Amino acid sequence: VWFDGQPGPTPIAITRTSKPKVHPADDELRFGSVFTDHMFRMDYTEGKGWHDAKIIPYQPFSLDPATSVLHYAQSVFDGLKAYRGQDGSIRFFRAAKHADRLNRSCGYLCIPPLDPELVVQSFHALVGVDQSWVPSKRGTSLYLRPAVIASESFLGVHPSKTYTYFLILSPVGPYYAEGINPVKILATDAHVRAVQGGLGAAKTAANYAASILGAEEAQKMGYTQVLWLDGVEHRYLDEVGTMNIMLKIGDEIITPPLNGAILAGVTRDSILTLCRDWGLKTSERRISIDEVMAAARNGTLVEMWGTGTAAVVSPVGELGYKDERVTINGGKTGTLTQKLYDAIVGIQYGETEDRHEWTTTL
Ligand code: COI
Repeated sequence: VWFDGQPGPTPIAITRTSKPKVHPADDELRFGSVFTDHMFRMDYTEGKGWHDAKIIPYQPFSLDPATSVLHYAQSVFDGLKAYRGQDGSIRFFRAAKHADRLNRSCGYLCIPPLDPELVVQSFHALVGVDQSWVPSKRGTSLYLRPAVIASESFLGVHPSKTYTYFLILSPVGPYYAEGINPVKILATDAHVRAVQGGLGAAKTAANYAASILGAEEAQKMGYTQVLWLDGVEHRYLDEVGTMNIMLKIGDEIITPPLNGAILAGVTRDSILTLCRDWGLKTSERRISIDEVMAAARNGTLVEMWGTGTAAVVSPVGELGYKDERVTINGGKTGTLTQKLYDAIVGIQYGETEDRHEWTTTL
């Protein structure tokens, strides 16, 4: 157990806050607006490597206005969750896989890699210190947000010589205002999120910046998020704002392949694994918006849902494209979507057998 001064692979200096905050009630939790008492920080200097791992009271950064991340977005992040089971114990969901993905994202942005074991250690150490913040109501969890930013002050465009890795924690409830009710998504060809050969597979600020205008336009039209189509032909499904997309046409479960332009979702991988465990016909293949709309029209599009750490498994009740707006499964959560949600949540809260050893206990 790597927290509170107990030895782990890397020494972590801990300074505790003298002003602990009041915890919000579990019922009031939404997504990402409340933060715990402490944060983890570690710095990188060229020639020295990563150094000075520490846990300190949650606090603002002081940054020179020329800090490169503020201008050129050389930054990556990830997001994972810790859950409190009914037995009171705290479980991380696929922590090592998130640490690996953070490192892969670093590679796309020329950020020096982090030791994945140390990243996992930082998760355990900080959640250990702030464990009273892990909520317990079903549907709530503690969201971990690790991130790396380029911290050198300069205005030339080249990789920074210094970086800061930090980890913050936020007790959260549902990501969407809809809660676990179906969301409405709009497939658009007016904007592009990412292209193959670009940054689409990295969890980096630029992809989210590219999504904001399209998402705002979709919201004005009554949609929750945008379903991004490929950046070249504007035809094939890529992913949704903060989720990977899956659908069931007839008896085939389909999700777009990891083509370099979409994020390799950890929930995506988990849900595909469950579907295969259950013997369902599961395809990672290109699927065009025309095929989806045709299936919606002829009634073979049975269910559609998004997957993501923040969104978990989120049913899609309505899909818009050009002048058409189709309702899926009568705008209600589908049977398979519900079954997948229940299965993954059961594993996350430690209530059902974790065959693939996805969870680790604090
Ligand atoms: C996730 O953690 O699921 C995300 O996609 C991050 C998002 C809230 C920006």
